[in-house]
Amino acid sequence: MATYKIAIIVGSLRKDSLNRKIARSICALRGDNLDCSMVEIGELDLYNQDIDTDNPPASWKRFREQVGAADGILFCTPEYNRGVPGVLKNAIDIGSRPYGKSVFDQKPAAIVSASPGSIGGFGANHQLRQACVFLNMPVMQQPEAYLGHVTDDSFDADGCLKEGPLKELVTKLAHAFHDWVNAILRARELLLHDAAKEQAKEPA
Ligand SMILES: Cc1cc2nc3c(=O)[nH]c(=O)nc-3n(C[C@H](O)[C@H](O)[C@H](O)COP(=O)(O)O)c2cc1C
Repeated sequence: MATYKIAIIVGSLRKDSLNRKIARSICALRGDNLDCSMVEIGELDLYNQDIDTDNPPASWKRFREQVGAADGILFCTPEYNRGVPGVLKNAIDIGSRPYGKSVFDQKPAAIVSASPGSIGGFGANHQLRQACVFLNMPVMQQPEAYLGHVTDDSFDADGCLKEGPLKELVTKLAHAFHDWVNAILRARELLLHDAAKEQAKEPA
């Protein structure tokens, strides 16, 4: 089974972020076939089109390179005031530009939102999905990942998910995400292969 490079982008800068712990759990549960790396977004300069020149800020270059090198993206985010946290929106805007050179283009993704609240960051999750539609990213549909009632108590002292329904759902998510990335990338490969074969058949 193929292993894919996954860039994880967490929408919280909090040291003990629940979303970061969920992201780590997804990697741990599927570490055999998901080669995950955290892409940090806290130090990114604020997006400003005036400085998006041939020599943009170093923090943007680093971010674009890290995301660009990934096969797929896993977003794990809290909801702030029913929307996407500002730091995450800033990262999305940085990765999406310069126009025509978005590092998100065509990358398969999953969006997980976790909250102590009951609706599991539904608002942020869907706001982010809206951006991903525009960014031409195929986003996993199921299982839905609005993780509600997540608290520090959902994890053990090592930050691992305790046994129970949340861990079961996160395990399903981890497997589904691998399969999703695999399906999208394999299908694209096959289409390119078929197109190359057709072209080879055409008379000169
Ligand atoms: C500015 C702010 C706005 C918030 N708004 C929401 C909200 O709209 N919905 C929600 O479920 N939780 C909201 N919360 C609570 C967060 O879900 C909670 O702090 C969560 O632990 C943040 O995620 P993290 O643990 O990954 O940092 C808000 C928290 C902050 C600091």
